[in-house]
Amino acid sequence: MPTLRLEGLTKHYVRASQVVRALDAVTLEIEQGEFAAVVGRSGSGKTTMLDCAGLLMRPTAGRVLLDGVDTGRLGERERAELRSRRIGFIFQEFNLLPTLSAMENVLLPLRYSGADHRAGRRRAEVLLEEMGLAERMGHRPAELSGGQQQRVAIARSLIGEPTLVLGDEPMGEVDTETAEMLLSLMRRINRESRVTFLIVTHDLDLAARADRIIHLRDGRLDADQRVERPGTRAGVAALAAVG
Ligand SMILES: Nc1ncnc2c1ncn2[C@@H]1O[C@H](COP(=O)(O)OP(=O)(O)O)[C@@H](O)[C@H]1O
Ligand SMILES: [Mg+2]
Repeated sequence: MPTLRLEGLTKHYVRASQVVRALDAVTLEIEQGEFAAVVGRSGSGKTTMLDCAGLLMRPTAGRVLLDGVDTGRLGERERAELRSRRIGFIFQEFNLLPTLSAMENVLLPLRYSGADHRAGRRRAEVLLEEMGLAERMGHRPAELSGGQQQRVAIARSLIGEPTLVLGDEPMGEVDTETAEMLLSLMRRINRESRVTFLIVTHDLDLAARADRIIHLRDGRLDADQRVERPGTRAGVAALAAVG
């Protein structure tokens, strides 16, 4: 059973009595342990797709199945619960709370889940150590670089032991070298823990390091490429030529 199945996913927004077809019948499956990139021009529906997949928004039509569960049939409370138990989020702007330390930011999602406090703290420590932030746990976001802040955000996305991590341009605010480092970290977590990743990026070099590249165009699924391992650019180019 796929971790995520989008079935005819459609989202229309109405703005000034105009209908914007942000997503148009997108169907795809993401298997457990996959590392998939979503690419496409600005306005192609990437954020809308991720927000629907992350149960932050309900589609106009179509279905989102998480580990086989048809989430459209659930009420808001059940959706919120499923979201907090199964899904981790990483955003472009890091979204850390400025008054909290790195440790406290990582622990934040557990506040609402009633998880054991001590076990959560221990897990946060391990995650921050894995992110290379052992010496920075007590620092506030303003005392950290962009790359360090995003590593805190990655640790936060993993604190609830999600099966699926969704990232909306998580490398969008940092320089190329830092972006490479963040991607390597996520790939390592994916390899070692089998957490499924679905990451939006506009950077095709970064996307080429995923297992799979999902292309959106005007709200439609334009191409769905498997990247051969090891993820060389030549491999992607060959696939692009076929598809
Ligand atoms: N809340 C909204 N209201 C109206 N239109 C929206 C809203 N959010 C997004 N859109 C429109 O939907 C389309 C897809 O947007 P989005 O999913 O943000 O694309 P992307 O993330 O690929 O840039 C765009 O045309 C955008 O202007
Ligand atoms: Mg977007």
